[in-house]
Amino acid sequence: MKVIITGAKGMLGQDMVAEFQRRDYEVHAANHKSLDITDIHAVRKVIEALRPDVVVNCAAYTNVDKAESEPEVAMRVNGLGPRNLALACEATGAVLLHISTDYVFDGEKEGPYEIWDTPNPINVYGKSKLWGEKYVRSLMHRYFIVRTSWLFGKGGRNFVTTMLELAKRGEPIRVVDDQWGCPTYTVDLAKACADLLESGCFGIYHVTNQGATTWYEFAKKVFELSHATVMIEPITSSCLCRPAVRPKNSVLEGFPIQESVGYVLRMWQLALGEYLGE
Ligand SMILES: NC(=O)c1ccc[n+]([C@@H]2O[C@H](COP(=O)([O-])OP(=O)(O)OC[C@H]3O[C@@H](n4cnc5c(N)ncnc54)[C@H](OP(=O)(O)O)[C@@H]3O)[C@@H](O)[C@H]2O)c1
Repeated sequence: MKVIITGAKGMLGQDMVAEFQRRDYEVHAANHKSLDITDIHAVRKVIEALRPDVVVNCAAYTNVDKAESEPEVAMRVNGLGPRNLALACEATGAVLLHISTDYVFDGEKEGPYEIWDTPNPINVYGKSKLWGEKYVRSLMHRYFIVRTSWLFGKGGRNFVTTMLELAKRGEPIRVVDDQWGCPTYTVDLAKACADLLESGCFGIYHVTNQGATTWYEFAKKVFELSHATVMIEPITSSCLCRPAVRPKNSVLEGFPIQESVGYVLRMWQLALGEYLGE
């Protein structure tokens, strides 16, 4: 089986490459330089030349705050990028597995978001990712859209690395305690994506580690597991003046992951422990 992985140098992209290599796929790791997904001609050329069975799209514009001041760039990468991949995949018969986000939801729901809940993004990043999803859904027959959340992994800067850097400075840390979500390890996500692909059960999925928490509780667990002594204070989102507003609840419900791959992902605390131990 031949797979192209876009955004292969990103945090998730690196673990996705490793997962498919482990399964003996013929892996073509495409990074931003070798394949710009916003370039329809380049996308068509690569996919028509390589004729992959599968394309996994890990490429994205992921700076949530910066997207507010450069929406056209975010829309181009997160909207037109998946459109280009969808067009080329559909034309050549390749399956597309596209990664999306919890931030397509507005956070107003009481309880976890199911796959059939209606997205209503409240920031530019979320809007751009929803636009990408819509292209994939409308242009393709055989696709997976995998929404995930609060990623951590060894391939990039993330909330955990930020917390550990702040801890080293020895200053008190203030962390938001009124946004809920599901921390997710990129290693576990990559495995679940490969299993989903092999299940042949196309469609939309919510794939996260099990368990919901706040950024504050997440940070406390990071410090506990890494034996760091830190002064940490819970604050509300209103105390932080950030360009992009975040949903207060972006907890994702995993149904029907179990029904499709035969398991649910482990608890986020276990995954975090493994990540910190590496
Ligand atoms: N991180 C999270 O907490 C989180 C949460 C929910 C969902 N997600 C989704 O998960 C996926 C992976 O995220 P991540 O955290 O691994 O992101 P990441 O580390 O920022 O990786 C994204 C990669 O995409 C590349 N890229 C950007 N524009 C591109 C373009 N036009 N063509 C080709 N490649 C391009 C980037 O390369 P350059 O750096 O060279 O531009 C980067 O290597 C994304 O779809 C994201 O929306 C992430």
